[in-house]
Amino acid sequence: MSDYVVVEEGLARLKVPNPSLYRDERGRFEPAWAPVFFNPRMRLSRDVGSVLVKAYALYSGRSRLRVLDALAATGARGIRYAVENREYVGSVVLNDLSPLAARIAEENVRLNGLEGVAQVRNMDASRLMLEEGGFDIVEIDPFGTPAPFVDPALRAVSHNGMLCVTATDMPPLLGHYPYTSLRKYFSWSLRTEFSRETGARILLYFTAREAAKLGKRVYPLYTQSSDHYIRVCVKVENREAEAGGLKGSVGYVEYCPRGLHRRMAVGVVPRLRERCPVCGVKLLYAGPLWVGSLWDRDFAVLVARIYREELGRRRLSRRGEKVTRLIASEVDAPPLYYTTDSLASKYGLAREPSAAKLVERLSESGFPASLTHFDSKGFRSSLPPEKLASVARAMG
Ligand SMILES: C[S@@+](CC[C@H](N)C(=O)[O-])C[C@H]1O[C@@H](n2cnc3c(N)ncnc32)[C@H](O)[C@@H]1O
Repeated sequence: MSDYVVVEEGLARLKVPNPSLYRDERGRFEPAWAPVFFNPRMRLSRDVGSVLVKAYALYSGRSRLRVLDALAATGARGIRYAVENREYVGSVVLNDLSPLAARIAEENVRLNGLEGVAQVRNMDASRLMLEEGGFDIVEIDPFGTPAPFVDPALRAVSHNGMLCVTATDMPPLLGHYPYTSLRKYFSWSLRTEFSRETGARILLYFTAREAAKLGKRVYPLYTQSSDHYIRVCVKVENREAEAGGLKGSVGYVEYCPRGLHRRMAVGVVPRLRERCPVCGVKLLYAGPLWVGSLWDRDFAVLVARIYREELGRRRLSRRGEKVTRLIASEVDAPPLYYTTDSLASKYGLAREPSAAKLVERLSESGFPASLTHFDSKGFRSSLPPEKLASVARAMG
């Protein structure tokens, strides 16, 4: 059996480790065991990422983009970005610390006819980003936490460029290890039904803080979380702003574990309540975290449109179409989504409604609501949970 196979993903052909050689006892491919990392389950993230490159080009009016895939492994991400966006990408640097990964990335560059467009480097990502700058798009996709790479990445991205940061250290971000989150991201995480959203808000807060300290500020363009990762893409402005642009965008979450009441308190030192005004129980907190929007509205709508229009041409996954459509539908909806299972269990509903039906019923009744891409049972509404439970109960 050969050590490597060639797979097709999107419009790229990629030489990757043979998955049959790295299976656990249940037969599941374990990408971390292979000598070079390639996870087919991250395809959705690369599909959306590739579309984001075009969206960014159109949104910023830039062409001949300089892209850096700073932790590239086989080069899958950066190669797809270049192959699928030939009219927008001028050059791409694929870097990895592992000499073997860099060799495979070189082969993948040739396999896709990208000589002259893609350059492979074999060095520490932070060093590369400190030595070279002026990239329009910087992609940080490491193992686990991206925290150590965010500072150099912010330095390497050009004024008004886009920085995309992926985190796969879900236990700290989702509130399983709040002390680890505090250590890595300077923020207390919390286990709730909307933890994926607070995780994304913690990652954005951290990125914004790292930017502020460098005299830069960030604007969230796109946030997505599926499977085992959270990915945020921000526009980076190289200019100082009052309080580094953090004013009005940082705050805390208050959460009532009994009745599911939740509130975002805006401010660095906001007045936090001790007890839930409805249930009387002690509230739980997350933060400091990003309380501003997770998306730029126009950008998110543009991403959904490009994805839909180019689904076939780019050979993208159907799943990505659904995710990008859901994101475009939730950009203006209230923060901190509910889930139908937590509502059903906390309020003793005889039957758990489907999120889609509940959103439909709420909208028909004049209460704006939307689904969320974060959770298939999730929905967004500004109604209090007891009111949501009574609407759900009336649905039978
Ligand atoms: C999660 S993988 C990247 C996956 C890739 N972006 C993809 O879509 O297939 C992380 C990669 O980072 C590389 N790496 C780890 N530490 C690094 C460092 N300090 N500088 C550069 N690369 C590093 C690893 O060798 C590994 O290939």
